[in-house]
Amino acid sequence: MINIAILGYGTIGSGVVEVLGLNGDSISKKCGHEINIKYILDLKDFPGTPIENKIVHDFNVIANDPEIKIVVEVMGGVEPAYSFVKEAILRGKSVCTSNKELVAKHGAELLALSKEQKVNFLFEASVGGGIPIIRPLNQSLTADEIEEITGILNGTTNYILSKMTDEGADFDATLKEAQAKGYAERHPEADVEGYDACRKIAILSSLAFGMQVDFEDIYTEGISKITQTDIKYAKAMGARIKLLGTSKREGNHVYAMVTPMMIFQNHPLYSVNDVFNGIFVRGNVIGDVMFYGSGAGKLPTASAVVADVVDAAKHLGTNIMTIWSSKKLELSSITHAKHKFFVRIADSDAKVKDKVKEIFGDVEEVVAEGVENEYAFITQPIDEDTFAKNSSKIDHIVSKIRVRV
Ligand code: HSE
Repeated sequence: MINIAILGYGTIGSGVVEVLGLNGDSISKKCGHEINIKYILDLKDFPGTPIENKIVHDFNVIANDPEIKIVVEVMGGVEPAYSFVKEAILRGKSVCTSNKELVAKHGAELLALSKEQKVNFLFEASVGGGIPIIRPLNQSLTADEIEEITGILNGTTNYILSKMTDEGADFDATLKEAQAKGYAERHPEADVEGYDACRKIAILSSLAFGMQVDFEDIYTEGISKITQTDIKYAKAMGARIKLLGTSKREGNHVYAMVTPMMIFQNHPLYSVNDVFNGIFVRGNVIGDVMFYGSGAGKLPTASAVVADVVDAAKHLGTNIMTIWSSKKLELSSITHAKHKFFVRIADSDAKVKDKVKEIFGDVEEVVAEGVENEYAFITQPIDEDTFAKNSSKIDHIVSKIRVRV
């Protein structure tokens, strides 16, 4: 029997308890050991529930108990999660976490510490909810040099954009639904402003390139400025708006960004809707692969956490090698990243069209039913820098959205 402790009895923590209750027998068979939840750390008590007797309020009870071999950290946030995880590793315990903030900030350090202590620091659930992506990047794709990762990495924003597109739903009401379904972060700006997706692409890039990619260096825009009118235009063009996290290697340079993008039916991420996430990876040997599944929510995320617990239980006393050095990867600026740009101008005068043509050359005019008194167009593929310079010469731009070429 292997004893574990869970830090945090929120959405994911209670999901881990539920998964181990539901599939405990088959999980034990696959693991070769019975997994026993000995403690659950939480600020609250849960009187009258089956976990009542497992609740502890002091982390030291867990740290000091040599019977605890694996700690599941599902509290979220950097502190006190970081201090608890570090202490657990130093005490010879493996840690499985869903905490992307912790992994993005301290992943390299905690992996190095785990290696020294011959334990494991596993974080499959930190990116893509239940989708296997960390293990494939670390194991199945090791023969490849990764050239690109592009993903819909945030379930909440994909849910909001899908409902706005398919049902004409209101942004705020849909966000509330996502919160009620347990998809959204405690502070929803982490989802809607792209910070969550930013941490996730930082983690994936660090693993893909084997060095520390600091999330602070990644250009990030969220979806809070996307309106129903933008969506009407996207529909008129046969496109969908998605919040994409991308990191791309070009020669010796890597750039990364998180932005809303219009994508067309020919892109594999076009059909990834609702709370689903999709992660497209291009390797120099394998070519294109795509990972798809439930990107957020209690049970999908708990499924990934429990799979890590089984992996940690199978590797007690052995460290699973993960290449992620603390050496910083200097990202190149996005100024040379090339896309088309969709632009709306709150002015439909013929003179504006002439000016746009003079500045951007040939553009494709876009018309959306019921939208009046504005001029919308798509540029030819141009780089970020050129777009910024050109667009600064035009007044009354109400929105701009990148278009994937
Ligand atoms: N808030 C996150 C999302 C949870 O919506 O994707 C999963 O990391």
